Amino acid sequence: MSPTLDIAKARSNFPALKDGFIFADNAGGSQCLQSVVDHISDYLLNTNCQLGADYSVSATSTKRVADGAVSAALLINAASPEEIAFGSSSTMHVENLARALENDILADEEIIITPEHESNCGPWKKLGARRGITVKLWAATQIPESPNNTYAVQLALDTLLPLVTSKTRLVAFTACSNILGSITDVAKVVSALREEAKKKGARKLEVCVDCVAYAPHRRIDVKAWDVDYCYFSFYKVYGPHIGMLYARKASLSNSITSLAHHFLKVDATSYKLQPGGPGYELPYSTTAVVPYLQSLSPSGDLDDAFALIAAHEQALLAPLLGYLTSPEARARGVCVVGNEKIDMNRVPTVSFVVAGDRKMASKDLVAVFDKKGGMGIRYGHFYAYTLIDSLQPKLDINDGIIRISLVHYNTVEEVETLVKELKEVLA
Ligand SMILES: Cc1ncc(COP(=O)(O)O)c(C=O)c1O
Repeated sequence: MSPTLDIAKARSNFPALKDGFIFADNAGGSQCLQSVVDHISDYLLNTNCQLGADYSVSATSTKRVADGAVSAALLINAASPEEIAFGSSSTMHVENLARALENDILADEEIIITPEHESNCGPWKKLGARRGITVKLWAATQIPESPNNTYAVQLALDTLLPLVTSKTRLVAFTACSNILGSITDVAKVVSALREEAKKKGARKLEVCVDCVAYAPHRRIDVKAWDVDYCYFSFYKVYGPHIGMLYARKASLSNSITSLAHHFLKVDATSYKLQPGGPGYELPYSTTAVVPYLQSLSPSGDLDDAFALIAAHEQALLAPLLGYLTSPEARARGVCVVGNEKIDMNRVPTVSFVVAGDRKMASKDLVAVFDKKGGMGIRYGHFYAYTLIDSLQPKLDINDGIIRISLVHYNTVEEVETLVKELKEVLA
């Protein structure tokens, strides 16, 4: 028999799960591991001093902080910890990255973005406006297998390639949508992009991938993907509020202008993208995430652990998506926003609206759950403003969609409870 995830064991690492509250807003942020909290307190109580000095506590402290990048490099299969920068959030990282890339983008070159989370759109739009650079949109389009639901949209490769020209310099997209739940085949997209850019004679193509909604569900592999930049937030991957930015060594050498103080010798390292220090206790605390993930698989292998996570998450998805796409729910006006199919191209982040004759505002549906208590779900645009605003028929942007998002420490029983309550609310 193939191994399955030991959910009770996984849950025992998260004190917050003990009282039975159902966390179903996990795409907004996961629970934090006890071991991460232990690392934070150990650092602050025992080794909290300035980095880089010669005294013994500083040496320990310096190594602890540096281990954060070593561990993150292992997690995403980076060639070196020198390719990892830490910062307060993913949003801040991309803004920094856009500033650092500005000198290496010519005024007549072009950037392609998606309508997904604004973190990978806004900084590029602002860069475009500052420099008069054209910014094109790789829009989400109707999923052909779901012709009766105009909210079933996705990013499709065949609509991206015609946007590539001899001027394309950067393409910024998501590895997974925080609304649609769909996974982008990053390796395939990057390879097709590079081929197309080469064919059309582009001077230099780089790719920046938002992995925030992807990182809790699948393994990032920057080498296999052949990406230049990618990022995610540890607070969605069982850690503290800190973001990680990967920048390929060649890009650090050839594309990035340092954001560090002029007198600091940063060479071709992530320090170029880290104005100020990386933080102390938080990068150190992230070193507890990889051992936790490894502990999920009998082999201790990260790829095996993510395979178990993905399999369990498919089991979580089944009752929820099964109900939301059922004839009963459709008749009640439920429309899934995103991929309606339960398959490996999807994570258990499920969005929907209630339309039709008995339309229900997202706010009102969520309010019923808030009043009942015992579980947390949420409504809105979740900062994927352009995506939600582009859906047809048009939605009230502030009411947005209802999002129920699960991660591997959720149980199938929790999801069944959610579905039962949803049925009652929509009856
Ligand atoms: C897909 C996606 N990208 C980026 C972000 C932004 O991350 P941060 O809050 O660390 O800036 C989020 C946050 O929800 C997200 O879901």
